[in-house]
Amino acid sequence: MTHRPIVPGVDFHHSDSIALMKLWSREGVRTKLLLSDPPYGARWVAAGQKAIANDENPYRAAQDFLPPMASLLDDNAWLLLFCRIDLAPIWEGEMRWLGLTVLPYYQWDKRSAFHIEMNIRREVLLVACRGTPARYINDGATVLAYDRVTRPEIVSATPTAKPVSMLRYLIEKYSEPGDLIIDPCAGIAPIGEAALGCGRQYLGVELEEPRALVATERLRAEARLVAARALHRAAIPLAA
Ligand SMILES: C[S@@+](CC[C@H](N)C(=O)[O-])C[C@H]1O[C@@H](n2cnc3c(N)ncnc32)[C@H](O)[C@@H]1O
Repeated sequence: MTHRPIVPGVDFHHSDSIALMKLWSREGVRTKLLLSDPPYGARWVAAGQKAIANDENPYRAAQDFLPPMASLLDDNAWLLLFCRIDLAPIWEGEMRWLGLTVLPYYQWDKRSAFHIEMNIRREVLLVACRGTPARYINDGATVLAYDRVTRPEIVSATPTAKPVSMLRYLIEKYSEPGDLIIDPCAGIAPIGEAALGCGRQYLGVELEEPRALVATERLRAEARLVAARALHRAAIPLAA
């Protein structure tokens, strides 16, 4: 797959993000918010789907992904990562090892999103930061119970879909308009869609080609929608 920016400020790579993050870190790329849904090391396979890459072992996943992720954080920046609830201590231990401050995590009630009974009903969103970000937020453990994931193409393309409304809420809370959001395990880019909709820049990476293709199309569609909305807003005073 060839790589080119979707629109200025929105970039997506079909690649191995561990290698890319090391490269970007050396080049001085930094972010105020790294928000991602990495392989937790849960060895999870949904019915009829292929296993998630790099998902074999939680210690390995945390030790492979967290150091390059931490190296991309600005002096005062947030690192927000989804994780399976029972694996959270492993990821949080590694975050502390890297010198990050770990705050209480959010719990996300997955049943509110999928409306089906699940073995693991809650996922968590780990909250860590470097320094003291301008918007220093410590809510205490909070439950996120957001909209249902309904779009069938999204539910069928990934077993770990996250509702865009929930991601928008998080992006608005933890970043400012124009900030760059980095998402190194993007899947089909729900975080990218949310970031674009919130007027943030976005840099995403996905290893698996089928998901990277869905993500690229999705980001192009969202970019068209955002441009059309801006045009509409600009046209209103003329029409009045
Ligand atoms: C838990 S899933 C995230 C899915 C996402 N929430 C979605 O809705 O599509 C983790 C994703 O990380 C990707 N991944 C695993 N290792 C990677 C790597 N080294 N570089 C980039 N992506 C990777 C997997 O292919 C998978 O799509």
